[in-house]
Amino acid sequence: MSAPHILNHPVIDDYMAKLRYKECSPEDFRRFVRQIAMLMVPYATSNLPTRSCSVDTPLETASTRVLDEPLILCPILRAGLGLLDGFLTLLPQASVAHIGLARNEETLTPEPYYFNCPSRLSEAEVIVLDPMLATGGSASEAISELKKHGAKKLRFVCIVAAPEGLDTLQSNHPDVPVLAANLDRGLNEHGYILPGLGDAGDRIFGTEA
Ligand code: PRP
Ligand code: URA
Repeated sequence: MSAPHILNHPVIDDYMAKLRYKECSPEDFRRFVRQIAMLMVPYATSNLPTRSCSVDTPLETASTRVLDEPLILCPILRAGLGLLDGFLTLLPQASVAHIGLARNEETLTPEPYYFNCPSRLSEAEVIVLDPMLATGGSASEAISELKKHGAKKLRFVCIVAAPEGLDTLQSNHPDVPVLAANLDRGLNEHGYILPGLGDAGDRIFGTEA
């Protein structure tokens, strides 16, 4: 198991300050999540496999490399959709899997309601996207489901992680590297991350908790 990679990047943290602010509108919230997603792409992909190729430049032939496909992005609905556009902007060749999970607010366990996945899951590098890693139940469930359908090479990307969620995810899936923009203090009695940024899905889509 590798240690989680917590970015604490100055530019991302500047966006995080705006994102966390309670008066941030859904329009701005979506924009900041998208910008943070784009800033995280290089870190989320730094060790993706590549293959060698040659390209004719105007002057001579360059030996270079391109990404080895297939690449699958998997947002966990709903809030994971907020990260998708930023990832797809920089990785337009990726296919997209969707997993619908709603956390039961009493038991804090994820309840699955949707699964739709491209073929070639077993050959693909799969990047699972969700802004929030709280108890770790949703991320663990999504990754278990993807593995059940054949995924072998997975990584998980979130914006805010709680220590409890990291522990759970890494003990359930020690083979899955985790990347987070920030690691927060912990969870409150309702399973919300502190200080966190509230309910990410509600803030992205302008719905009420
Ligand atoms: C939120 C969030 C994660 C999950 C994290 O989704 O986007 O998927 O909770 O909590 P956990 O780590 O304790 O499982 P939610 O279930 O509220 O659904 P939504 O995205 O539709 O708002
Ligand atoms: N889901 C969220 O959207 N926010 C939290 O703080 C915890 C779970």
